[in-house]
Parts: sequence; structure tokens; C-alpha cells
Amino acid sequence: MKKICIVGGCGHVGLPLGLVLADRGFEVTLLDINKNAVDLINRGIIPFQEEGAEELLKKEINRNLFVTDAADIVKEQEVVIFITGTPVDEHHNPKIHEVLNVVEKYLPLMNKDQLIILRSTIYPGTTEIIEQKLQKHFNARPKLAFCPERILQGKGIEEIKNLPQIVSAVSDEAANEASEIFSKIAPKIIRLEPVEAELSKLMLNTWRYLEFAIANQFYMMVEDKGLDFYKIFEAMKEDYPRAKNYCKPGLAAGPCLFKDTMQLSAFYRNQFFLGQSAMLVNEGLPNFLVSQLEKKLGSLKNKKVALLGMTFKANNDDIRESLSFKIKKELEFKLADVLPSDPYLKDTYKLEDALSECDAVILGVPHNEYLNLKFEKPYVDCWNVWK
Ligand SMILES: NC(=O)c1ccc[n+]([C@@H]2O[C@H](COP(=O)([O-])OP(=O)(O)OC[C@H]3O[C@@H](n4cnc5c(N)ncnc54)[C@H](O)[C@@H]3O)[C@@H](O)[C@H]2O)c1
Repeated sequence: MKKICIVGGCGHVGLPLGLVLADRGFEVTLLDINKNAVDLINRGIIPFQEEGAEELLKKEINRNLFVTDAADIVKEQEVVIFITGTPVDEHHNPKIHEVLNVVEKYLPLMNKDQLIILRSTIYPGTTEIIEQKLQKHFNARPKLAFCPERILQGKGIEEIKNLPQIVSAVSDEAANEASEIFSKIAPKIIRLEPVEAELSKLMLNTWRYLEFAIANQFYMMVEDKGLDFYKIFEAMKEDYPRAKNYCKPGLAAGPCLFKDTMQLSAFYRNQFFLGQSAMLVNEGLPNFLVSQLEKKLGSLKNKKVALLGMTFKANNDDIRESLSFKIKKELEFKLADVLPSDPYLKDTYKLEDALSECDAVILGVPHNEYLNLKFEKPYVDCWNVWK
């Protein structure tokens, strides 16, 4: 089976993919600059929450799976997969150089016979720019593919095996080789051209972000009028099949949805008004939740507020771009004393202590630990878990 190296292999996307490929018999090396993560994974420890990952790691480490921070390993590979971060800058433009710099760093170690697969969520046209760079360096047509990852963080192992894989490439040879690899782990291959594949991933994440924005806008509109949003929401959905997938309000946070909507906006010369509006709505929800609590308490000055759930989503330990931190900041602007609590994070208040010490509660994210809580203090819960 082929020798595959994953650059960024200790990250949230690289690690599950590496584990699944190793489990299917490929010889996989995870290459990462994060020495701490390299060390943990080498010791059989998954650095973040990922269902089913620890069992696979125990089975595959030093068998089909190797982990290193030594760049030289790239030379020996048949396939090099790049999965590093693709953030936007402070003006919400894609930081394209971060992607290009990673490829450039490893260029001297790569050769024209290797299949190179881009797997990060990239700005439309990036594959073509990288193709040009590789072409110049190799003085030959590179075997370059773009195969976007579409997993739900935390459930990657399961989803990689069940979701169709979109494959695009700059040549049929590269597309066929990439398809051959992914057909060993995914049930179906869907072929697109690179720019179509780049857009497909951005449009998927943006669509999800817009769905949350609709729910959040309606929640704020209705609650602001003193009405009960969920009473209307449940009535709308009851036995009405077309509203089955109408999503609930909640903090739309995390490292992907916001920045991918902004990437799409930059692609459309900042004329993507729907995406920009969704950003204003979703980023405005934390402020709205604080104002709801302020209405209940009169003033937040010197009030102790327990903020339950600091991660960006429920039942996960990832705090990247979590909007709970925006709630915390807004509460602090109002001179409240914030008691952050989260069972997944060290250095936060224990749930019992936060609840007994506080004057009021805001639910940041609905971890399972919070679903059946009983307490007699004023609260704000846009997720409706305490009904
Ligand atoms: N997190 C998700 O659920 C998800 C889902 C689908 C797609 N994506 C996309 O996948 C990409 C990666 O996201 P992520 O969440 O895995 O990010 P991450 O930050 O968890 O992982 C990136 C990894 O790359 C490593 N890295 C950075 N520079 C490197 C270099 N020069 N050499 C080797 N390693 C390097 C980092 O140390 C890190 O371990 C992004 O484009 C993201 O939008 C993420």
C-alpha cells in the first residue's frame, strides 16, 4: 500500500484522516510542527476529543501510523496531503499566504512523481496558484488534487467512512490516483473541477452559517418583543414536514463557518450581502443574550454571572473561535463578575460552585452535563434546554 504523509497531521482534520487511512492499510506518517501534539500522539494520546480515535491510534501506532516533526520524511513519500489552517485576516480576507508558505516550505523535499493532495478549505483559485508554483519548481506538470474535508469535528472517524468524497485535480492522472486512495475509505467519489470543488466546500459551510443566522435573527426578533420564541418555533414545526430541518437558534461559532463565509464574501468582491448579514446576526447573538439577562436583572453591575459552556460547541473540548468568550467580554463591559464553567476545560469553575455563587446564569453551549440541571436563579438559555 502507498506511503502517505499528512502535513498538519496532528490537527483536527489531519489526525482522523491519518487514522482511517492507516486502518485501511496505508503506511501513514503524520508530520506536524506542533511538537507537543507529536509527542502525545506517539504516546497513544489523542490531544483533543475525537470519537473512536484512541482505539484506532492504539491499534495503528508504529504499525501503519508514524508521527514526526522531522520534515525530511516528505522525501520518502508517494503521496503528500496538506491539511493546515486557512484563516481570514482582521479584514476578513483569506490569508492565502499561510497556505502557500506551508507548501513552499516543503517544496525542496518534494518531487514531480508524488501525488500532492490539498485538503484544507481553500479560497477559490488556490489550487491553480499552487499548481503554478509546483510546475515552476518541478519544471513538469505536477500531480495535484484538491479533495476537501467535510467532516463534523469530533465525529471525523465515523464520517470519513460514510460521506462521499469530492475529488478534483489538475489532470486526469492525479484525479484517478486521488480517487483510488479515497475509494478505499469513502463509499463514493464525486468528481469536480478544482474551482468547483473549492466553491462546493465554501458554499456548504456558508449555507450552514446562514441557516443558523435565520434561526438567530428570528429568535432575537421575537424575544425582543417579549414573546416566547420556542412556543412559536415548536408550533411551526409540529407535523409540518417541510420545516423538519428548520434549525434552532444558538451560538454559531468555531474555526470554520464564520471564516468560510468571509472567504466566499471576499471571492464575490464583498458583494455577498447575505453572508455579511449572517455574520452580523450570528456575531450579534452574544450581545443580545447579555442584554436579555440585563433586562431580567435591571443592571449587571457587580452581579455574579455563571457562564456555562466555554467551548465552541456542545460535548467538545475545542475553544477555537468560541462565542462564549464574546459573552464573557460583553458581561465584563457591563461590570459583571463572570464565573466561567466548563467540564471540558481546566481552570474554570466547578459547576456546583458556579451555580451556588452566582446571581444569574447564561448558557453558552448545551453540554450534556447541563441538560437536566435544576436551579432557582434567573437565566438566559437560547438553546431552550431548560425550557
Ligand atoms: N475542524 C474541522 O472540523 C474542519 C472540517 C473540515 C475542514 N476543515 C478545514 O481543514 C483545515 C485544517 O483545520 P483543522 O481544524 O484541522 O486545523 P488544526 O489547527 O486543528 O490543524 C492544523 C495542523 O497543522 C499544523 N501545521 C501548521 N503549519 C504546519 C507546517 N508548516 N507543517 C506541519 N504542520 C503544520 C498545526 O500544528 C496543526 O496541528 C482548515 O482549512 C479547515 O477550514 C476543518
